[in-house]
Amino acid sequence: MRSEQDDRWLRSELRGHAFDDFLNPPGWGKVKTRKGISLATNFSQHIGLNIPIVSANMDTITRARMAIAMAKEGGIGIIERYLSIEEQCDEIREVKRKESHIILQPHNISKNGTIAQAKELMERNKVGCLVILDESGKLLGLLSHRDVRFARDNDSVANRMKPVERLVTASPDTTLNQAKKLLDKSRLEKLPLVDEGFKLVGLITAKDIENLDRYPLANKDINGRLVVGAAVGAVGDFLERSSELVKAGVDVIVMDIANFQSEPGIEAVRKFRRKFPDTELVVGNVVLPEAVEIYQRFGVNGVKVGLGPGSACTTRYNTNIGVTQAQAIYECARVAKIPVIADGGIKRDGHISLALLLGGDSVMIGGLFASTDETPGLVFRKSTGQSVKSFRGMASREAMHQKLKAEEADDPYEISSRMSPEGIEKEVEARGSVVPIVREMAGHIASMISYIGGRTLIEAQGIFMANPSKYLVKLSEAAKKESFDR
Ligand code: XMP
Repeated sequence: MRSEQDDRWLRSELRGHAFDDFLNPPGWGKVKTRKGISLATNFSQHIGLNIPIVSANMDTITRARMAIAMAKEGGIGIIERYLSIEEQCDEIREVKRKESHIILQPHNISKNGTIAQAKELMERNKVGCLVILDESGKLLGLLSHRDVRFARDNDSVANRMKPVERLVTASPDTTLNQAKKLLDKSRLEKLPLVDEGFKLVGLITAKDIENLDRYPLANKDINGRLVVGAAVGAVGDFLERSSELVKAGVDVIVMDIANFQSEPGIEAVRKFRRKFPDTELVVGNVVLPEAVEIYQRFGVNGVKVGLGPGSACTTRYNTNIGVTQAQAIYECARVAKIPVIADGGIKRDGHISLALLLGGDSVMIGGLFASTDETPGLVFRKSTGQSVKSFRGMASREAMHQKLKAEEADDPYEISSRMSPEGIEKEVEARGSVVPIVREMAGHIASMISYIGGRTLIEAQGIFMANPSKYLVKLSEAAKKESFDR
């Protein structure tokens, strides 16, 4: 723990300074390789992370596909909120259904259904297999993508399904190891679990078992489903939206407005906690320590910190309001008893290291993930041959227009053209999957930990805070050039 003197020194060093103003000298290394280093941390009080990386709740960054990739790598994605309630819940359901130890309620169809209906159901729910049950819930068969691929649309499910006699089934208490052996022996893809009366209780898939080995850091809930968050606002439909998101299985609600150090923020948290006393809640954004103290007293489980560092954000430029991100993270973390998410301003992997050392429990990232395959939106091929995707601030005119459309406002175009935006839209060159980017980030965080002399992220943070003047050096202009200009 730092002394009062170190605390005073750190606050004065960081005031008005940005990530690029500092370098971190190493400590005495303890590990032979970076392999065993743990990056485990917390997103919020009851939601853990295996890597401290979060994808931002921006409409050009996180919907289901990004959230699935993030959770598989050990982080978490927060589904953006400029969608109708139903659309946002669909995104949550898609993530929660992607993987599990046991699928408890697989999508089903009647044996009298048509192949066209089955295909539509598979497509809508993005699943490759349906179960066929009778009226009492007894298993009659399975219908997979392969069974319908070349079938006529008006053919019946009963004709194409694999009947129960040709399936291997197991009892409800089957372990994943036993399931693996059974699937291996039968070379089948699906193992339905049935009770003594042959009623379906759940389904285990070979893919889910395979993924346990392929994604050892995957961030999962107790049922083996990927963990996901969703953003809501602080006025309007936020309570109804939260209620539906909770029903859809969301793990954490992120109440997100531009300035949470505000009366509407307090009012919204009060209302939320009255209605949802036990739902995991993160609020943001804040940069004032007094806001952190207030919200942790109100039973909030995490705070998102940042005002104006975002790569598509023009708040500081347009209003001159903001706190530099290095300062904001430390000022908030020093009083926080709940996890701090350092949100925005990460322009290179080294910034992640500093954000974590200064007390961030995780970092939220927008711009560095922009235009990856997993982001929403179309790829445009320009006349120059470049392929680009759009990336925009959530307070940009374009994003506001989308929000008003989702809210079914009277004239979204007219209303959005009258607003004063605090964000911009840009084109970013398409850059492939986000997965190698995240893995590289995690590798660089592990390297930082080993340089500082830790074996875990938490240990490295402790080493830094115990002796900040050793591990934080302010740079001259020449030193910045030597360090970062390439
Ligand atoms: P990066 O730097 O990773 O930051 O792109 C992502 C964060 O930027 C914030 N954000 C905005 N801030 N106007 C703002 O003032 C905006 O239009 C805007 N859009 C996003 C947000 O906190 C996000 O997580």
